[in-house]
Amino acid sequence: LKDLATFPIGVSVSNTDAPAYNILTNTAEQTVVEKHFNQMTAGNIMKVSYLHPNNTGNASDFTFTNADAFVDYAKSKDIKIHGHALIWHSSYQVPNFMKNWAGTSDEFLTMLDTHVNTIVTHYKAKGNVTSWDVVNEALTDGSPSTFRSTDSTFYMKSGNSAVYIERAFKAARLADANVDLYYNDYNIDQNNAKTTKLVEMVTDFQARSIPITGVGFQMHVFMDYPSIENIKAAMKKIADKGLKVKITELDVAINNPYSSGWSVSTATQYTSTSALAQKKRYCDIVAGYKEVVPEAQRGGITVWGTTDANTWLTSATSQYNGQALAWPLLFDNNYNDKPALRGFADGL
Ligand code: XIL
Repeated sequence: LKDLATFPIGVSVSNTDAPAYNILTNTAEQTVVEKHFNQMTAGNIMKVSYLHPNNTGNASDFTFTNADAFVDYAKSKDIKIHGHALIWHSSYQVPNFMKNWAGTSDEFLTMLDTHVNTIVTHYKAKGNVTSWDVVNEALTDGSPSTFRSTDSTFYMKSGNSAVYIERAFKAARLADANVDLYYNDYNIDQNNAKTTKLVEMVTDFQARSIPITGVGFQMHVFMDYPSIENIKAAMKKIADKGLKVKITELDVAINNPYSSGWSVSTATQYTSTSALAQKKRYCDIVAGYKEVVPEAQRGGITVWGTTDANTWLTSATSQYNGQALAWPLLFDNNYNDKPALRGFADGL
């Protein structure tokens, strides 16, 4: 893939968070990653609770050992890193000291400045992290979409305010003048109320010179939803703002728990027919991205995992109507190429 592309081609990988698939030790992982990809995202180990777990809030509480080993491996293979994520509300990946913050909102925001500054400065010095998801998933799914509030420690502890978002972008830019800074979210590919709120936010940021480089579209999508037209229209709205567009977490589940067409039982749905439909879906998405995002604004496309055996969707049942989604990636359980890989390549 990387040889066919004119923009970064990335993959999310496991580390100590899933030892059987650890990119530092699993040679099947390494073979596939080194062959096809020139960018990687850590599936978990560069998130808030991993890098900044301790409970005093001091700069010295950061824990970089595992992430550093990962970044060093990438560097030795000439693979860049997309940092993920400086701020994400997801409850079990927010450290307790942040959740239980008892100080003022000003003190919380100052702590966040240090959080962002310390991490970005650390990886600027290492020299292989080319972009960051600065804030992940700060918007709600409703209509109208709003800033996520009660379920976000960051919003609540900032004094019931979304000001933490722009603070984080400013702190990241102060720490590194050159690294690309993304706002990242899911379901913004549907050209719906959430996309509208996203466009409103970035328009406001640009008007006030908040340093944002681009928007990351996670793109955990189904075979039949959202439509390619909606995906392209949503990306075009961001491209039209002059921002970079990056597909950050692409996967295409074969089954869709909300649709009778591709419903529930996962046992037999990965057939030669669905494999070819998935191949086409990958091709359409990659080609659609190229169609609506001008070359200079292409931040790249990252798939959220290597082998189907290690997809996060198997355990993401709470997000997907109680069901496990399956066969979403480019390589099968034995690391063989799927038709989806050819579809991705065809789209390039
Ligand atoms: C997921 C990881 O893949 C899982 O291993 C973990 O248990 C939960 O987080 N959106 C994101 C990613 O931005 O960080 C999530 O990653 C998937 C959804």
